[in-house]
Amino acid sequence: MSHAEDHEGSRRDFLYYATAGAGAVTAGAAIWPLVNQMNPSADVLALSSIRVDVSGLEPGTQLTVKWLGKPVFIRRRTEEEIAAARDVTLSDLPDQSAENANLPDGTDASDENRALDEGGEWLVMMGVCTHLGCVPLGDAGDFDGWFCPCHGSHYDTSGRIRRGPAPSNLPVPVAEFVDETTIKLG
Ligand code: FES
Repeated sequence: MSHAEDHEGSRRDFLYYATAGAGAVTAGAAIWPLVNQMNPSADVLALSSIRVDVSGLEPGTQLTVKWLGKPVFIRRRTEEEIAAARDVTLSDLPDQSAENANLPDGTDASDENRALDEGGEWLVMMGVCTHLGCVPLGDAGDFDGWFCPCHGSHYDTSGRIRRGPAPSNLPVPVAEFVDETTIKLG
């Protein structure tokens, strides 16, 4: 399959939406588990790898991409978000593991081990709360990262759990840049 065909297929088969409004995201948080159960279409499940065009993402915004039936957050972070994520003492983290499928088990949860690129501009994570599976809201919570309204879990700008019942950081899936503006998941 050529890159162009693959990309076109992604656009046709997957839902992309920017987290532009908290209202829309709140609705997403409430309905996602139901939609997910009702709609595990075989063609979606069969595609274990997709490419996402991130050329339109400005710093401080994110895409939510549906992949393998689950939401994935792709965020282009601001300098402030990166600095906040990197200015955290590891011992303050409830989950000190990177939870990054691209790195060996046991890698620590420093922001450098969570971000997709060395500079830390890009963060890719499963958008599924590690407590009971709701979809957290972006630009929210006590740590200005993500907030899960279902039972009050706060994640920081690196997607690491900081407060609330969620036991672990939002997992980073297998992901890489395949060119300057395209991220491949899986
Ligand atoms: S599902 Fe997120 S806090 Fe419970």
